[in-house]
Order: sequence, then structure tokens, then C-alpha cells
Amino acid sequence: MSILPDLTLRTPRLLLRAFTPQDALRVFEIRSDFEVTRMLVFPAYPPVLEHVAAWLREHAIEWRAGTAYRFAVVADGRVIGCADVDEIQDGCGELGYWLERDYWGRGLASEAAGAVHDFATSTLGLRRLVAGHAADNPASGRILLRLGFRHVADRSRLYRSRGAEVVRREYVFDADGP
Ligand SMILES: CC(C)(COP(=O)(O)OP(=O)(O)OC[C@H]1O[C@@H](n2cnc3c(N)ncnc32)[C@H](O)[C@@H]1OP(=O)(O)O)[C@@H](O)C(=O)NCCC(=O)NCCS
Repeated sequence: MSILPDLTLRTPRLLLRAFTPQDALRVFEIRSDFEVTRMLVFPAYPPVLEHVAAWLREHAIEWRAGTAYRFAVVADGRVIGCADVDEIQDGCGELGYWLERDYWGRGLASEAAGAVHDFATSTLGLRRLVAGHAADNPASGRILLRLGFRHVADRSRLYRSRGAEVVRREYVFDADGP
């Protein structure tokens, strides 16, 4: 399936669009907050601007290959985070999201994650989504449960940002029911 790179998703308060190279500084700023990055498995802390720029450059390649769709979350014309589906293979993908701290607690991550969940299951037709969150991040668990994910396991994972093993709560969503 070919998904055009100018595809946008809209929610009542947000616009989700592909990242551009001009977003590197904003992403760097948001990821420079340890409270954001410590909840993510892969990114290192502190971030390096050139690494962020290289990560953004990969997005177009992933998008064309159909392996990941990473959306910049935009509110009031400003990038405030990311919501994505990646690791796409055999009808399955992984849902992820992060927002700048100033925007937490307003239901915006739920809105963004919901839009990407719909995109993944309806537009891409993925039948299974997986997701997970650090055990000390219950807000993320609330988002997943509201989207219909079910908790399936707790596993220890290396969180690069923390340089430590962290218990990660893992979830599955089956579009065809459990
Ligand atoms: C986790 C994160 C995405 C939540 O964003 P948000 O916009 O504040 O989330 P929402 O406002 O949509 O709220 C999510 C839910 O968490 C609940 N919540 C918020 N803080 C909570 C806490 N400390 N404990 C339990 N639940 C909490 C909210 O009440 C809401 O639940 P509800 O919808 O049942 O009322 C945001 O904090 C973030 O980006 N954190 C850093 C990166 C990250 O953790 N990404 C996810 C990695 S798995």
C-alpha cells in the first residue's frame, strides 16, 4: 500500500503530519527533558542534535518502505511531540507516543494515540498492535487500556536513556478481538 508522504491526520485539537528536517531542533528540545526521554526505550540521554536530525531523515525511508509511520503532533502550529506506528511486519505494528511536558494532562496523548491507532488499523489494515510502557509510567497504561489494548506481560528491558533495566508492561491490541 502506498501512503502519500503529505498524509495528515486530524483530531479535535491536533494535526498529525510527517516530520520535516526543520523539526529537528524542536524534537531535540523536547527530548532534552529527561522526564520525557526516560520513558522511552531507545533514545539516549542527553540527546545529540545531529542524531535527532539523522533519525528524522530515516523517517521518509521507513515511510516509503511501509515499515514505520511517524507523525509529528502539532498543536497551535507548534510541534509538541510524536505519535507513531513502527516495526510494521506481517500485519502487526508497534504504537508509540511522547509529548512535551507542558502539554501533559490535557488528554492530548490520548487523542494523538487514538488517531494513529485508527490509521494503523483502518488505513493500513494492521490486525495486531503491540505497545508497552515503563512500570513507573501508569499514564501511558491508561491510554493503552482506553484504546482497547490488553496487558499481556511484564518484561525487563534496557532503557538506554536511564542506562538501566526497567520493568516494561507489555500490551496487545487485536483488531479481530482477543
Ligand atoms: C505518557 C504521556 C504520553 C501521557 O500524555 P498525556 O497527554 O498527559 O496523557 P492524557 O492526558 O491523554 O492522559 C492519559 C491518562 O493517564 C492518566 N494519568 C495521568 N497521570 C497519571 C498518573 N500519574 N498515574 C495514573 N494515571 C495518570 C490520565 O488521567 C489519563 O487517564 P484517563 O484518560 O483514564 O483519565 C506523557 O506523559 C508523555 O509523553 N510522557 C513521556 C513519554 C512517554 O511516557 N511516552 C510513552 C512511552 S510508553
